[in-house]
Amino acid sequence: MTEKKSANAMWGGRFAAGPDAIMEAINASIGFDKRLASQDIAGSRAHAAMLAAQGIISDSDAEAIREGLLTVLSEIEAGEFTFSTALEDIHMNVEARLKEIVGEPAGRLHTARSRNDQVATDFRLWVRDQNDAAIEGIEALIGALLGQAETGADWVMPGFTHLQTAQPVTWGHHMMAYVEMLGRDLSRFRDARTRMNESPLGAAALAGTGFPIDRHATAAALGFDRPMANSLDAVSDRDFALDFLTAASICAMHLSRLSEELVIWSSAQFRFVTLSDRFSTGSSIMPQKKNPDAAELIRAKIGRILGSTVGLFTVMKGLPLAYAKDMQEDKEPVFDAADTLMLSLAAMTGMVSDMQANRDALAAAAGSGFATATDLADWLVREAGLPFRDAHHVTGALVALAESQGCDLAELALEDMKGVFDGISESVYDVLTVEASIASRQSYGGTAPIRVREQVALWRERLR
Ligand code: ARG
Repeated sequence: MTEKKSANAMWGGRFAAGPDAIMEAINASIGFDKRLASQDIAGSRAHAAMLAAQGIISDSDAEAIREGLLTVLSEIEAGEFTFSTALEDIHMNVEARLKEIVGEPAGRLHTARSRNDQVATDFRLWVRDQNDAAIEGIEALIGALLGQAETGADWVMPGFTHLQTAQPVTWGHHMMAYVEMLGRDLSRFRDARTRMNESPLGAAALAGTGFPIDRHATAAALGFDRPMANSLDAVSDRDFALDFLTAASICAMHLSRLSEELVIWSSAQFRFVTLSDRFSTGSSIMPQKKNPDAAELIRAKIGRILGSTVGLFTVMKGLPLAYAKDMQEDKEPVFDAADTLMLSLAAMTGMVSDMQANRDALAAAAGSGFATATDLADWLVREAGLPFRDAHHVTGALVALAESQGCDLAELALEDMKGVFDGISESVYDVLTVEASIASRQSYGGTAPIRVREQVALWRERLR
């Protein structure tokens, strides 16, 4: 057994002895919650100023606390602060150091406050910052995708379903699909921000306080829209973190899909894109290789982010109100998910900005696989008056014919086509090229270059 320690200086009044080393190891959060230092100090400054304004502590005590907290912050930022496991967490580490610096007034800071509302406040502030960073990161990625879409608004490529050639689309249209997905991610993060931007501070341990505090003042000082309306809820929910994590998970899923396409497209078999050297790696044994490692890693990162999400849901489910120490397990998954998301967004933005779409390879692939078969069926509907189901059947027979002749639809002789269906005439050839197919799809949301350019302009306006 470990040597007997003295009781905790912050809460050890009724304790004769300090914790066992194992107890300290499982109990302490300072190893990770030191990341909340600046939020903790911001919260304490707002709280101290409010206590003085309400006449709960003296102005001179508040001033000493304010000065002292600034010193603590600069020590932490300079890497000169010694974090102590015996002091458990960031809240008590900061307060203990404050006491060393300013003496007695430090003991008045925790008036009308508990670590329960303190940690809820700190963590909200931290998640809010990351939420803002996610929004910025997504906007940067959208910017990079818009650049690609603009350059290749009329570059033809195969559109796929089941990863089989379906119909031709444009490179710009494909890029803009991701812009739309990321646009919804943006709105999820913005929505989460609105909901999380209420202050738990002043809920105290769980029931509020008898001191005449002003929760509206501390909420405003910390940039919150308002104080949370129920003190039990304020200290016990972590749905703001789950909002962030679920938005992050969906975004990571989108990034994973784009990554998969980049992996496929950059292969020698596809050659749709060339990734820059800056975002590729080599092989230590095969000199010819240029690997899309960043894309592969982003494809996988959803595992960590969704894992964190499931982890926090599991921590929170079944917890009775109000605070329980289980909730100390809320932080690490969110820290890891946030770090992972920001890194993924930055790497994806770099890859997309740098990558070169290979126009010729895209065009060559666009024409293969009878990509204009639907255009042919549509022509039969429009020009020969066939019901679509019959047109589909006739077109199928023409595809089989072309396949047997080893040629494209556009290369079939008119006589041969007439042999399948007599109503076909010369003008059918106008719709059999990829370019004609692309240009014709002008329905709202369609792949025609004029629609793509409209969407690019709209998004540029939205981002401004
Ligand atoms: N380190 C704790 C946490 O992260 C702070 C709150 C402690 N509250 C308590 N009642 N023990 O949850």
